[in-house]
Amino acid sequence: MENIAQPNGGRPWHARYPELGTEPVPIDGYVSPDYFERERTQIFRRVWLNIGRVEQIPAPGDYFVKDLPVCNTSVIVVRDRDGEVRAFHNMCMHRGNQLVWDPKGNCNRFTCKFHAWTYGLDGSLRGVPEEDGYSNLDKAARGMRPVAVGIWEGFVFINTDPQPRQTLEEFLGEELRDAVSGYDFDTASASCFSWETELNANWKTCKDAFHEAFHVAILHHRSIGEVFAPRSNLACVLDFKLFERGHGRISLPANPEWKPKPVEVLARRFGAVVLQKNVDSSTELPAGINPTRHPNWAFDGYAVFPNHIMYLSQGSYLSHTFWPLAHDRTRWEIRSYQPRATNLAQRFAQEYGRVTFRDTLLEDGSTLERTQAMLGSGASADMVLHDQELLIRQSHMAVESYLRD
Ligand code: FES
Ligand SMILES: [Fe+2]
Repeated sequence: MENIAQPNGGRPWHARYPELGTEPVPIDGYVSPDYFERERTQIFRRVWLNIGRVEQIPAPGDYFVKDLPVCNTSVIVVRDRDGEVRAFHNMCMHRGNQLVWDPKGNCNRFTCKFHAWTYGLDGSLRGVPEEDGYSNLDKAARGMRPVAVGIWEGFVFINTDPQPRQTLEEFLGEELRDAVSGYDFDTASASCFSWETELNANWKTCKDAFHEAFHVAILHHRSIGEVFAPRSNLACVLDFKLFERGHGRISLPANPEWKPKPVEVLARRFGAVVLQKNVDSSTELPAGINPTRHPNWAFDGYAVFPNHIMYLSQGSYLSHTFWPLAHDRTRWEIRSYQPRATNLAQRFAQEYGRVTFRDTLLEDGSTLERTQAMLGSGASADMVLHDQELLIRQSHMAVESYLRD
């Protein structure tokens, strides 16, 4: 654990990125309705947003619907007959009814429940009952309105800007794409378990809680306790790396001193338990995963700006997505991805891991509304950040830079 005791050569992580500064961060951005409106128009309606995975729509005709209040729309993502993934505003081009009401399904065409206009999977308007009765109906121009869509590592991204300023590749940037390249998302995504909830908290209040790990031994002492860092050395991190455009990574060790309970020993024998499995050296990891090649590596937390976080461990991963609803309200989506269990022992380990994960989430959730309530009290104008909160500072600076543009 020598290089954990002296990470970054004993220098503060902030010294790696002096351009971020070390000033206190203003609280206004967490509580102001005006600030939130600017984030909505200048960030969420302009950038690429991760709204799902390709496994949700494996076959032609498969679709899912994603309501995106922050972008003032609902989006249909569909795999067309040729296997191409397309996205459209979920709007009928007659009088605007929401076209698809089911959250997911499979169909040959979309039919509006109001007056039965029908659309092909390519979005083209195919059928209009009583067609002769419409004035000025140009069917070719009345197809569903497309939304820019792109796929990265099996993740489906959309951009509701009619003319995105960047391609998805440009937005993610070469550094992030290279770092994750080679991680076997296909195998790890075979089985997905999810939770969703809405909280009375700003989306950044929620996100910040997953941008640092030095609260784990304190807030999570009842659930996962000192699995990553001992209480005597909370700042126990292998590496921080900030990528361009607000994306970043934290790499975390497992704590070799941690004593698992007997049931945890059993579960760990057959699979990862909340990211606690140490490196299995028989499987080569891509260069960007466990970047320091530490034998006690636990997982890497990847922040994908603005609202998505992935915790990649060996063979399984978790994700959090934070959807702003208002300046003080957020929809929190949590997903746990694991390979398909091939025997009962693995199934037990996975289930145990998910239940433990759920318990830690409840602990995380317990701080978020309380934090938001007090940020809104006006008692303080700013907050100070620890060296371990580098990703929070980076995210704050990225938000500010979008709002300046
Ligand atoms: S609004 Fe869809 S057919 Fe009339
Ligand atoms: Fe936590």
